[in-house]
Amino acid sequence: MTLIYPVESNAAHPARLSPAYRSTVKRSPSKPLIPMRHTLSELTGPVYGHETVREHDHDLTIQGSGEPLGERIMVHGHVLDEDGRGVPDALLEVWQANACGRYVHVIDQHPAPLDPNFTGAGRARSDATGYYKFVTIKPGAYPWGNHHNAWRPAHIHFSVFGHAFISRLVTQMYFPGDPLFPFDPIFNSVTDENARMRMVSAFDLEHTRPEWALCYRFDIVLRGRDATPMEAR
Ligand SMILES: [Fe+2]
Repeated sequence: MTLIYPVESNAAHPARLSPAYRSTVKRSPSKPLIPMRHTLSELTGPVYGHETVREHDHDLTIQGSGEPLGERIMVHGHVLDEDGRGVPDALLEVWQANACGRYVHVIDQHPAPLDPNFTGAGRARSDATGYYKFVTIKPGAYPWGNHHNAWRPAHIHFSVFGHAFISRLVTQMYFPGDPLFPFDPIFNSVTDENARMRMVSAFDLEHTRPEWALCYRFDIVLRGRDATPMEAR
């Protein structure tokens, strides 16, 4: 059994070596890649986690004993294939900083508070039409050590698993109009502007819930001419 994915959309993705994004200098391959045929079990084997997604795992605001601080938002959209068809039953996992720009992670020690009611992690499965939804807190910008005065634009990390273990794709969702876009080497490691803007969610007034939360739409296109740029391919 072979499965061939189209490669035309690869130009949308960031190069493995993007020198302005300093950690890619050491971690990108310095020698030609060696193609390896995927095994049958890699293509058809069960994917960890789909069956353990619980009803409320998509809501990052109800994991603690109280409400997390910050601006509550909804993020929703469809997982789509290259022809715009919804991809059902995809496992979506998100992780993000809290409203102050701090991750619950031992390495993140920058001077911003943790929130006892916010882990920054959530999961969801796309429905029969490819639709997914998260409720969360708008993440803050945070500093990182890439260069002097480096700050990441606010973003949510997304991982998408299909039915095969090797199908995992990872990207970041940004928020429209962020003033940090021109200064972020990760955002700009996607060199095509149209492709870059496909990582930016759209403000979705229509689905904003009055008196409760703003809404952003983020469709994830897995491949093809409108593919969402992905970090892991
Ligand atoms: Fe991040």
